[in-house]
Amino acid sequence: MRKPFVAGNWKMNTDSRSSVELAKAVVAGSTGMAREKVHVAVIPPFVYLPVVVKAVSSSGVAVGAQDVYFESKGAFTGEISPAMLKDVGCTYVLCGHSERRHVIHESDELVGKKVTAAISGGLLPILCVGELLEERDAGKTNDVIARHLRTGLAGLSADKMSAVTIAYEPVWAIGTGRTATPQQAQEAHAFIRNLLAEMYEAKLAQEIRIQYGGSVKADNAKELMAQEDVDGLLVGGASLKADEFVRIIQAAM
Ligand code: 13P
Repeated sequence: MRKPFVAGNWKMNTDSRSSVELAKAVVAGSTGMAREKVHVAVIPPFVYLPVVVKAVSSSGVAVGAQDVYFESKGAFTGEISPAMLKDVGCTYVLCGHSERRHVIHESDELVGKKVTAAISGGLLPILCVGELLEERDAGKTNDVIARHLRTGLAGLSADKMSAVTIAYEPVWAIGTGRTATPQQAQEAHAFIRNLLAEMYEAKLAQEIRIQYGGSVKADNAKELMAQEDVDGLLVGGASLKADEFVRIIQAAM
């Protein structure tokens, strides 16, 4: 039985005051649901991690980071190590979000190193995969997803794989208001689960949670979650409004 997992990726939004207010409102709105019925995480910008961790402390809401570097320490100006994230109280970390792949030009290989390093550092990575619109139009959706999975999970043993959540985020649905249809989401999620069964084993593939992300809103969350292989939601814009994010959490249970 896969417990639903809803995460709010705040991207480059909020400030020291609004990040705390938002985190506290999510905690207040999800009391009795978070951890018991659904896993909930908020994913603020790096600099607000400590204040957000404090704001959600002793609630069921976990905190994640938006990125991580694969080295443990040293001369890597501007980067943040897994140990640093762990040190400030992070549980999860996004690896290979589409904005990092396509805006910052992170390579598939770099994303794979981050996933491995995150697990070694005691974090739970959320590996993001998904195709561009031109790739979908060219019939390459499954090829892109397969490449992201194979490179993102390269060299990862089955016992480590159980720490991973996969997030399917079709790039054309991110921030566009154009959500994938529940059928499109289910098709991609089933493809991901089948490929995981091939790469690892069927039992493990059945246990891995696969989130959908891309223009998730309170009013489309339920039909997305109703799909057999949709186990959670990775929410961008709608996670910046506490009321709406809480309604999404309710829809996911
Ligand atoms: P939106 O929900 O704003 O489309 O963003 C999705 C996303 O990228 C979450 O990581």
